[in-house]
Amino acid sequence: MSERALAQVQESSLSRLIGTLTGSLSALGEVVQEVRPRLDMVEDLIQRHLAASSPAIQEAGAYVFEAGGKRLRPAVLLAVARALGYEGTNDVRYAAAVEIVHTATLVHDDVIDHASVRRGRVTPNSRWGNQFAVLLGDWLYTRAMEIALEDDHILPLRVLSRATTALTEGEILALGLQGRSDITIEQYQQVCELKTAELFAAAASIPACFDQAHARFREPLQTYGRHLGLCFQIIDDLLDVTASEKRLGKPVFSDLREGRLTLPFILALPRLSPQERETVEAVLAGREVDDATPHRLRKALGREGALDAARRIAHDHAEQAAAAISILPASATRQALQGAPLALLDRQF
Ligand code: IPE
Ligand code: IPE
Ligand code: MG
Ligand code: MG
Repeated sequence: MSERALAQVQESSLSRLIGTLTGSLSALGEVVQEVRPRLDMVEDLIQRHLAASSPAIQEAGAYVFEAGGKRLRPAVLLAVARALGYEGTNDVRYAAAVEIVHTATLVHDDVIDHASVRRGRVTPNSRWGNQFAVLLGDWLYTRAMEIALEDDHILPLRVLSRATTALTEGEILALGLQGRSDITIEQYQQVCELKTAELFAAAASIPACFDQAHARFREPLQTYGRHLGLCFQIIDDLLDVTASEKRLGKPVFSDLREGRLTLPFILALPRLSPQERETVEAVLAGREVDDATPHRLRKALGREGALDAARRIAHDHAEQAAAAISILPASATRQALQGAPLALLDRQF
């Protein structure tokens, strides 16, 4: 990646997100905009916890959080709290905890995937080595739980820790499927539910744990978050095939190279020519292929309608997410939350 390209990607922070999320993506932009002052409080809280840690964590923590990230999970949590009329401060604390857990998973995920660029920056594993990256991830996980524990309120903490366990189980399941070309849609969905959707479900439902009066909203909010997360992961997997590294802030076409068969490939595989199938298997197995391979496979996925079909599945999840929260009290925030999953379909990074 050139210096200039790197600088461009590094703008992929919250302000760039808001700037970009106009027009067709306005529903997503609205969610972020509505909770912007509280998102700033989340950033402050994270910074305060980093500042109180050891020098090595201070440096690495600042490095990973300053790189940006879309802050989608905390934005969802804060927006749900607002939609429920919550007036305390637990939302900010839990939003920080959720973002820190998410960041920990990315730090560990990049070790597992041997990834060298994320959020437009060299990954911690590339910069400081796997040993330090594993410890940094551990520190982030445990600190997130400490932040969540501050008010001794067990229920939201239980939701967060269960989602964190699910995340790890998802990564373990994915590891077991690595390199395989016979993955079913059900297996793919299970991995996505565990490694991605559970944390979105936790983010969406935690605010309903702050007040017993909101208990009846917990399940619909879980459903909302789960479908939002599935939609989000499918789009992430599509972007891996269709987007550019410059926009995405991480290398493209890396899923197959890292041995991960994603939805567009699962859908297309039975219809590809024997030669194309062989190429997919060669990339999955980590064998060297020529530079034109990504372009050729992308074309084959398009030709077989697999990109459109994957998008339709993501769209379906977006609609199910929106429908799940129609029982929340009507408000502009609820409306923005309902529009957000559909807006995610058009995200470019
Ligand atoms: C990346 O999540 C991991 C997936 C679930 C695909 P994000 O795309 O939300 O990562 P950041 O926080 O914006 O970097
Ligand atoms: C997402 O998986 C990582 C987790 C949710 C733990 P990916 O491997 O698809 O994420 P990226 O593409 O590296 O961001
Ligand atoms: Mg990865
Ligand atoms: Mg990915």
